Amino acid sequence: MPQLVCEIPQWFPWNGSKRWLVKHLIPVFSEWDGQGKYIEPFVGGGSIATVVKKLFPTKQYLSDANPWLISAFQSQILGGSLAYNYADVEYWRNLRDEDLPKLSVVERANRFAICLFTAWGNRWETRIDGSFRSTTNSKFCRDDYLRRRLQQFFSVRWLTKNDEVQCCDWKEAVKEAKAGDLVYLDSPYPESLGYGNQWWTFSDHLDVVDWSEQAIKHGVCVVISNMWTIERLHRRVGMQTTKVIGPKSSKTRRNREEVIAWKMGETYCKLNVTTIKATMPLSPSARQPK
Ligand SMILES: C[S@@+](CC[C@H](N)C(=O)[O-])C[C@H]1O[C@@H](n2cnc3c(N)ncnc32)[C@H](O)[C@@H]1O
Repeated sequence: MPQLVCEIPQWFPWNGSKRWLVKHLIPVFSEWDGQGKYIEPFVGGGSIATVVKKLFPTKQYLSDANPWLISAFQSQILGGSLAYNYADVEYWRNLRDEDLPKLSVVERANRFAICLFTAWGNRWETRIDGSFRSTTNSKFCRDDYLRRRLQQFFSVRWLTKNDEVQCCDWKEAVKEAKAGDLVYLDSPYPESLGYGNQWWTFSDHLDVVDWSEQAIKHGVCVVISNMWTIERLHRRVGMQTTKVIGPKSSKTRRNREEVIAWKMGETYCKLNVTTIKATMPLSPSARQPK
């Protein structure tokens, strides 16, 4: 199975991509029986969802709060192709969030890919109005190069019409979870920029942990990855954890230390019940006393 992982090509580069973590996640995912849905509420570049599709050809429910990124996934299902004016990079960069409703899904996906592929370091950075901020790299704007990258981008297909893709906050997405489903939560690191202009805080991560505790009790299988320093939060709610050393971070120049935390749903393991809907309160105050 690890061999399979090395062969997975990157669909598009994404800050925070967990492609490097795939070989460590596979043994954990393999504890799941693949009978329910696979739900990934912070899907980012989708490298984990691609691998899961190979391991378990079950229905996928993928979401993210970035509407431009999500259009890439939606256009994959629709069968999108590159726009006739793909080379007019300035036009695409100047589009704003308020233009979203005027554009088709495939146009949005073009905007996403053109901005990302022509940016220095392929970093997605927008201004407050959604116009694209990252500096362009003139080499990446060369017509032959950009056309080839976009053709590659639009040729990727692993999702089917049976899969669902939504632009929403993670709390909306996890309402889909039922006993027997697998939910993989790879949120931003606490106290870092989450998406758009919003900060992802420790309090947000506590919500993730609290939700997971309740979901597991209702038979949902939960896997989380995040920075190692908050590992004990996950152990406190009964999850198993492991430490993984990753590649050097460009910011700190130190090797990343990541935690993978997981637990297969309790009801699911004991009774294999598949009908309990996992819609439970999310606020920390709603936690059950031990
Ligand atoms: C660490 S990245 C996920 C990377 C992904 N696992 C991969 O391999 O590419 C976190 C993602 O969460 C999204 N995000 C941030 N805040 C969110 C929220 N409140 N709800 C849903 N998605 C959010 C960001 O847009 C980003 O794509």
